[in-house]
Amino acid sequence: MTSVTLTPVQGTDARLKDALAASDLPIEDLDYSDRSFFRATNDDGDIVGYSGIEVCGGDVLLRSVVVLPEHRGHELGAILVRETLASINGNSAIYLATTSAASFFEKLGFVTVDRTKVPADVLATQQLSSICPASATVMKLTRPPS
Ligand SMILES: CC(C)(COP(=O)(O)OP(=O)(O)OC[C@H]1O[C@@H](n2cnc3c(N)ncnc32)[C@H](O)[C@@H]1OP(=O)(O)O)[C@@H](O)C(=O)NCCC(=O)NCCS
Repeated sequence: MTSVTLTPVQGTDARLKDALAASDLPIEDLDYSDRSFFRATNDDGDIVGYSGIEVCGGDVLLRSVVVLPEHRGHELGAILVRETLASINGNSAIYLATTSAASFFEKLGFVTVDRTKVPADVLATQQLSSICPASATVMKLTRPPS
């Protein structure tokens, strides 16, 4: 069975930045102490993607989820998200914003939420307040990822 290993990386990691930029994901807000990023490697030790979490008050923003193009379509994205979520402490509500992958996240237990229902600390993140377009879909994890 496929597995990925997550290793913490700094927001300044050049390959993280390159991977996000190549997939049109934000790179303007990586280097802050309240966010953590992970490099995902496969069983052969190859880098297959990255992910990140950002603490916003008592909640968490899942962000910067990317599988490198040559590794897509093999369930690594789903595994990467599950492993990243498993690293988050128990009681936090988990949100994300996406412009193109809502149905990918739906399969993992996220549902679309109206911005009026999103906590102020999450709305205040750079991702939601300035970087992602207002049209981005905001989602919340409602059940353990399947
Ligand atoms: C989204 C992404 C992480 C998916 O990675 P992946 O390894 O190809 O995904 P998986 O193989 O685990 O796919 C899991 C399921 O989601 C579906 N899926 C994959 N990418 C999708 C997308 N962009 N939109 C909708 N559904 C998608 C797959 O078809 C699969 O469905 P199935 O279980 O019914 O077969 C990858 O395409 C990517 O890096 N995209 C660019 C960056 C991005 O959009 N990140 C998300 C915003 S933070």
